[in-house]
Amino acid sequence: MSKIKSFTAVEVLDSRGRPTVHAICQLATGHAASATVPSGASTGSAEALELRDGDIGRYAGLGCLKAVANVNLEINHALAGKDFADQAELDQCLLELDGTVNKSRLGANAILAVSLAFCRAQAAEQGIPLYSHFAHLAGGSPILPRPMINLFSGGAHGGEQIAIQDVQIVVPFARSIRQTLEVMSDVFRAAVALVLERYGMRLLTADEGGLAPEFESSEAMLAAAVEAINLAGYRPGNEVGLTVDVAASQFHGEAGYHIDGEFIDRGSMIDLIDKWCAAYPIFSVEDGLQEADWEGWQRLFQRLRGHTMILGDDLLCTNPGRIRRAIAEEACDSLLLKVNQVGTLTEALEAMNLARNAGWKVVVSARSGETEDDWLADLAAGWVGDYIKVGSITQSERLAKYNRLLVLEAMCGLRLAKAR
Ligand code: PGA
Ligand code: ZN
Repeated sequence: MSKIKSFTAVEVLDSRGRPTVHAICQLATGHAASATVPSGASTGSAEALELRDGDIGRYAGLGCLKAVANVNLEINHALAGKDFADQAELDQCLLELDGTVNKSRLGANAILAVSLAFCRAQAAEQGIPLYSHFAHLAGGSPILPRPMINLFSGGAHGGEQIAIQDVQIVVPFARSIRQTLEVMSDVFRAAVALVLERYGMRLLTADEGGLAPEFESSEAMLAAAVEAINLAGYRPGNEVGLTVDVAASQFHGEAGYHIDGEFIDRGSMIDLIDKWCAAYPIFSVEDGLQEADWEGWQRLFQRLRGHTMILGDDLLCTNPGRIRRAIAEEACDSLLLKVNQVGTLTEALEAMNLARNAGWKVVVSARSGETEDDWLADLAAGWVGDYIKVGSITQSERLAKYNRLLVLEAMCGLRLAKAR
């Protein structure tokens, strides 16, 4: 039992300089902890609602003072003095208090900040590290997820200079987080040299710290990634591979998919992805089609199953109902788990367990608007994520997570998950 003394919150800024919510949980025992929530840019339409003030006089309407007030007033009044047996009981209480399907009354940003701060406070109360507490919640033994590390960005993260959103590096031969990051550093330096030479000094980094030059085409982005792997002295494929977040909902409209200067239909989009997967060492394709095209996803999955992970982000929105549908309809075989898409830890864990029980892979993911908070690394280790996706090896809001994984590896003896 953990008795709540108080919940309080503060408006702080994320890595894009936009407001977000930082909550503090104080327990009656004197233990206290805080947590900050991230925010997406290429958001799925089924995500829980991030409450924004809408006052265009402050942060162009993106202020979070209402969400902060909801923690300080309504949530605190309802929960202070109450005893909670566990995370599930607290989260259930938050859901009932909010009373909406998508957490639009109190705000998913307010609710998740409280859910996370309570989780950390419980770990502190028990005197155990956060990853161990997450492992107890999930009932497994912690393991370090294999990083998918951002190299190149486009789409909503890179100023739309190219349609596809992210090309990432995976290092299947690496035996540790340390070795993974060493390899990534080599590939990143090679990519910087290549981009400077080919695209001049207009070097631009995107929201997640990846490089964002004006590629001529999507294929040029994939080819440059393979060149950078080669230049760094590694073998593209089982030594160093690629994962792609197409984020196709972002460039899909009535006229089809707007990519590489053309509008193409679903069939051509599937053919294009198939072609990329045949030509490049692509381990996983995320959001290859738009989020509402369930039939198209089935076709894409039929085409690539067994060769390439078909990873659902906007399609699933970490939403248990959508995951059940995707399992039943065989629309994909892996879950991108973003806790703030659903809004409480308990619902995110339910999503994770559904995916696991279906034999899917799970990729624990940060958002494009992140903070220096590192709870995601502990969650990914404790919940036994197969992969973690937190962006590039530049920018401290990304490094907070990688550095935490390095510490867990070196100090806590956690081992890296197997590739595939
Ligand atoms: P988002 O991007 O946080 O902007 O949604 C991350 C992703 O699409 O995977
Ligand atoms: Zn995505």
